[in-house]
Amino acid sequence: MATEEELIDARQMSGFKPFYQFQSPTRVIVGRDLISGLGFEFAKEGATRVLIITDEVIHGTGLIDKARAGVEDGGLEVAGVYDQVPQDSDSPVVKAAAAAAHEHGADSILAVGGGSVMDTAKASNVIFRYGGEPRDWEGYYGLPRANDGLGRPEELAPLACVPTTCGTGSEVSFAAVIKDRAEHIKFQIGDLPLYPRLAVLDPESTRTLPPQIAAATGMDAMTHAIEGIVSSEWSPHGDAFALQALRILRDNLQRAVEHPDDDDARGNMLIAANLAIQPTHTGAIGIAHSLSHPCGAHYNVPHGVANAINLPWVIEYNAAAGEDIAAKYRDINELLGLEVGGDGAAVGHTLAEYVRSTVRSLGLPTRLSEVGVPEAGIPQLVEGAIGDGCTLVNPVEPTEEDFAELYRKAL
Ligand SMILES: [Fe+2]
Repeated sequence: MATEEELIDARQMSGFKPFYQFQSPTRVIVGRDLISGLGFEFAKEGATRVLIITDEVIHGTGLIDKARAGVEDGGLEVAGVYDQVPQDSDSPVVKAAAAAAHEHGADSILAVGGGSVMDTAKASNVIFRYGGEPRDWEGYYGLPRANDGLGRPEELAPLACVPTTCGTGSEVSFAAVIKDRAEHIKFQIGDLPLYPRLAVLDPESTRTLPPQIAAATGMDAMTHAIEGIVSSEWSPHGDAFALQALRILRDNLQRAVEHPDDDDARGNMLIAANLAIQPTHTGAIGIAHSLSHPCGAHYNVPHGVANAINLPWVIEYNAAAGEDIAAKYRDINELLGLEVGGDGAAVGHTLAEYVRSTVRSLGLPTRLSEVGVPEAGIPQLVEGAIGDGCTLVNPVEPTEEDFAELYRKAL
């Protein structure tokens, strides 16, 4: 077992980052009974006529009635409700939500839902402002800016998010992931104006979240934290958030899944998800996401489930690739109370086994074959993983064969 001094030395091998920029501009409010004060808070962000974007399931729970009352209680108007967001949102849905904003004369958007709802709201905000097809805006930092593109980005309509799952962290991130069903890919739109202006973390909004989805989205949060720390785009700022996210996950994930009425655990999971996404502000993420995106695009595997299955294999793959990478996993193991000694492969295996046992105890699938991914699909999945933006920021650059091997192991 490494001594504390060795651990600190290993961490410092990560060195002084030559460049990164970090910002987290979303105002986050956390507490109980915040839904009833939504209008009061959203007014401070410039909203007056609000389009609520959600899905039919959430609409059916009564949460939208509470959100509507909260908005109106603050003196704002609810212009309309768009509730047709599916599990994996796509371009026509984004356009329909933007059209709804126009039709209802909205000047602001409130997203109440999980990752798909919030990402739809972000992307439709772009279409609401600029029109066109969502894929016209694919990529990062492509939105119009003042001064011929050199100045501040032009603002979008005020967006507030009430996450109803504890995982994606989309309520404070600047990216939207949208499906292109014809091409079987998930594409991303990311730019500074997409940061929501307000995120409202209230455990009441997760009360009807089924355990299976709480488990899957919680594993997405764990994947964000772990990938954020080891990514080539890691930063000390991102680490500060991600390590605290892992502590909260360690102490609350199981409880939040087993006891849906445990507001403390559910509330803490909302915070963990919110912290875990922060490394992505510097672009820090990794190939568990590259492997998982095509699983969702081709076989409709829910994002968190795919990450839960793929993450342990990626940890073993990365950790064996060099001591500087393994050192980061040692930090994570230390925080989780796991063995920190041995070579990179051993450290990776220890953490991977912890993740696998967590996934099992949450009652999630542990194999891609259990969720409808056939072996014959691997070449197509590999193609998607190679082309995924998350591949560029993994600490190790995988070959096509590496990806195929990772999929075979996870099958
Ligand atoms: Fe994710």
